Amino acid sequence: MDVIIHKIHQLTPSIRAFELISANGSDLPAFDAGSHIDVHLKNGLTRQYSLSNCCSEQHRYVIGVLHDENSRGGSRCIHQDYREGDHLNIGTPRNLFEIHSKTQKAVLFAGGIGITPILSMAYRLKHQQIPFELHYFVRSHEMIAFYGNLTEHFPEQIHFHIQNQSETQCEMSKVLEEVAPDRHLYVCGPAGFMQFVMDSAQQAGWSDEQLHQEHFVAPQIDQSQNEAFTIEVLGSDRKIEVSAHQTATQALLEHGFDVPVSCEQGICGTCITRVVSGTPDHRDVFMTDEEHALNDQFTPCCSRAKSKILVIDLA
Ligand code: FES
Repeated sequence: MDVIIHKIHQLTPSIRAFELISANGSDLPAFDAGSHIDVHLKNGLTRQYSLSNCCSEQHRYVIGVLHDENSRGGSRCIHQDYREGDHLNIGTPRNLFEIHSKTQKAVLFAGGIGITPILSMAYRLKHQQIPFELHYFVRSHEMIAFYGNLTEHFPEQIHFHIQNQSETQCEMSKVLEEVAPDRHLYVCGPAGFMQFVMDSAQQAGWSDEQLHQEHFVAPQIDQSQNEAFTIEVLGSDRKIEVSAHQTATQALLEHGFDVPVSCEQGICGTCITRVVSGTPDHRDVFMTDEEHALNDQFTPCCSRAKSKILVIDLA
């Protein structure tokens, strides 16, 4: 889909909001709170960014992008190489972080750039008159993104937490004290922050069904023990060696098999591939534990094999 960058807003020293409108003047496809879009960048990379505006709006999408110092090329490109008026190629919105239909009360946790899907959720919950509180954790005042939107639209729900870690732990415990079956928790932010929120909620008695999280960056995985394995593609007599230093998608590509990829870190599910036999070593955060246990599909962008041979179906 061809869109135009209508406006760029510098929200914090490192976060910019990009307001995107249709290139042909028509409405954009509808989306739900928690959705993200694929952005196909001019440097060839595809990155996912959450939509942060209210899902009742169809004249624009708003994404927030952190200029990450450890950027693998995506956020640097969009910050440095795009200006207002430039065209951008994007995918239609997809939602991996929906508001659960049984949510009657909600607590939203955002850490840093994780505010982007959480803001869209806040608009949605307010529109549906579902009571909620929004806790936004940042390291300093100047790092608060969307400050004007938050204070204008959610003056009673927003709680800013600008503090050190021990104070954060104490305040989070208080928020999580109230456990009720119809109260759902949504969290987005850095991996460590999300893990801490999820662990704290579980310790406080929240059930897995009440806990929802959105990953921006996959947790770090130790690759030092990686071993080579072989892939056989169903219907082909080729044996593809995946060395310890490459991903399955890289090896497949080298042998002329193209697997669609997007995030390349096990977050988005774009590359999911059927496994016919063998045991995958699942390293994604996209599939559930139950789906992993079935071992009938895997994410070749990051996952590997526990068995010597993995037979996959690319049809
Ligand atoms: S490309 Fe996103 S999970 Fe593999």
